[in-house]
Amino acid sequence: MRMYDLIRKKKDGAALSREEIDWMIQGYTRGEIPDYQMSAMAMAICFRGMDERETGDLTLSMRDSGDTVDLSGIKGIKVDKHSTGGVGDKTSIALLPLVSSLGLKIAKMSGRGLGHTGGTIDKLESIPGFTTSLEMDRFVKQVDEIGIALMGQTAELAPADKKLYALRDVTGTVDQMSLIASSIMSKKLAAGADAIVLDVKSGSGAFMQDPKDAKALAEAMVRIGKHAGKKTRALITNMDQPLGNAVGNAIEVREAIETLKGKGPADFTELVLELGSRMLILGGLAEETAEARERLQKAIDDGSALEQLKRFVKAQGGDVSCVEDESLLKLADQTMELAAPCDGYVERIECAEVGMSSLLLGGGRETKTDVIDPSVGILLHKKVGDAVKKGESMATLYVSDRTKGEAALKRLGAAYHVGGEAAVAQSIILDEVI
Ligand code: URA
Repeated sequence: MRMYDLIRKKKDGAALSREEIDWMIQGYTRGEIPDYQMSAMAMAICFRGMDERETGDLTLSMRDSGDTVDLSGIKGIKVDKHSTGGVGDKTSIALLPLVSSLGLKIAKMSGRGLGHTGGTIDKLESIPGFTTSLEMDRFVKQVDEIGIALMGQTAELAPADKKLYALRDVTGTVDQMSLIASSIMSKKLAAGADAIVLDVKSGSGAFMQDPKDAKALAEAMVRIGKHAGKKTRALITNMDQPLGNAVGNAIEVREAIETLKGKGPADFTELVLELGSRMLILGGLAEETAEARERLQKAIDDGSALEQLKRFVKAQGGDVSCVEDESLLKLADQTMELAAPCDGYVERIECAEVGMSSLLLGGGRETKTDVIDPSVGILLHKKVGDAVKKGESMATLYVSDRTKGEAALKRLGAAYHVGGEAAVAQSIILDEVI
């Protein structure tokens, strides 16, 4: 086979065969196909698309490009969860200990922040001592012993995706449905769970801004999961404004802990209960949503979810006193307030811009080598639909560096749209794909 012929075939709109996709992906992973040919292929896919069979084949080929995790030694149905990424998305930190407190085994591989979206690993590392650099043996043993473990994705997991993603990132070929679906699902399938619950974000803070595109992506990923023999479901959830009130690292962990103490923001608590109920159902621990939600709520009310978070943090070297008293998670000493420009209502918040404001404070990376400051962040006091009075604080910024604070405050101010209309915030769950 020749890559030249495959590029031309895709450029002319034909479907690639399973053998052609395998040959291309394995050759690219081994460095036998150069980046310039793979870039041309990615661009041809952007213009011509891939059908369902090709997308499935691409996913399996990328899954098989490296190691796969074997969780078969752990008893019970292992359920994984994946979010397509958003602003203020600290869901895993509350959700995973919660479902695991009810007996679900959680073996989670997570990533770091990408662009304006934060990453679970960066957030968890704001707990002093907490490590996600686990050896595979320890990871599996911890899941078996306490029911939950979380580690960073290893370089050997779906290496074809790692390479292709980096290439797409710099060639304007990220936002193609088949490429996104196969990228996410190749990693999920390699991570070894029996069932997968997907949280596909939609709105101004998500990769998919239009709900129709988010639904199409959810459908594509659910199809791939089922095709690979995994029970898979997706919720399409609102990312038109940040999730909860906290955006940053330590500040988001604080909010996740508060949520397991029953004091979380309504939208975030609702998302945790809805995703958790799907996880319990796929894991065979509940028949239907109402029953599952009741069990999850009880685990929050009786403190068992919080106890499980403590076990999890302790097992990974973290300081448990920060879970008992979340105010021990250090926030930056200086604060700046975003004052409302006039009387009125918050009509809209440009969600990705809130993520960028947090990044400017030092809460995310502008370059690969940047070091995150876990203590900076933003606490939103006003969200869409809330009434404001001129001069009242709509958000507090926790700031380590005054110059960065000024830039972030300016950007956050431009993200808030205050006017005379009392807009109604959309509900957090927009749709579901089963
Ligand atoms: N996240 C991924 O892992 N891959 C994509 O292509 C987009 C988001």
